[in-house]
Amino acid sequence: SGARLFAIDGPSGSGKSTTAKLLATRLGLGYLDTGAMYRAATSEYLLRCPDGASQDEVARLVDEARLECQTSPDEPRFSINGRDVTDEIREPRISAAVSEVATNREVRRLLTAKMRDIIAAHERRIVVEGRDITTVVAPDADVRVLLIADPEARVARRAAEVAGKATDAEVTDQVLRRDRDDSTVSNFTDAAEGVVVIDSTFLSPDEVVDRIIALAD
Ligand code: C5P
Repeated sequence: SGARLFAIDGPSGSGKSTTAKLLATRLGLGYLDTGAMYRAATSEYLLRCPDGASQDEVARLVDEARLECQTSPDEPRFSINGRDVTDEIREPRISAAVSEVATNREVRRLLTAKMRDIIAAHERRIVVEGRDITTVVAPDADVRVLLIADPEARVARRAAEVAGKATDAEVTDQVLRRDRDDSTVSNFTDAAEGVVVIDSTFLSPDEVVDRIIALAD
């Protein structure tokens, strides 16, 4: 198939990362987790401004940061100002603060430009996942998918990911709170024109990937 640039959006726990990585591996494409970019920026912000900062200060910090994104689906790694934050960005304290950074308009502008540079550097042979990829970052993607799942399924998936590190109540709270905090970032209830909605509630990752590949043919 000629399709190369795949844009996949969805809320927390929709199965986006698992699906996007598997798709990239199966088709031999690059893989970019844009949520990890917002998380890396958040890690730097919390490190440098433990007492908080103005919107302008946060934007300046992101503008001046050297953010490195590795785009292999087997080993996606992220570093900021030379610090490898791949593991740290999954910590609950990052998840709790990320929406604050992600709702900063200037930060979004800067990171969107960076995402487009990475897509161009891959000559559009890449799977990009996030919240606004199908609508803002790459509305011209060859295949655009909005991945959704019932809240119960999303909570259960997150709980499995953080097994033992958080209680069920904490995970439920985190997933639902981030839905609410992110509602200003993107709208998951109505898909934009040309975006295909796939409900992964009752599908395995392989089944979701099969459907996405079928869209590309
Ligand atoms: O996908 P993940 O849950 O790791 O994303 C972390 C956060 O990054 C989201 O909750 C959202 O605030 C932000 N994000 C965004 N735009 C994207 C990807 C992620 O605002 N394209």
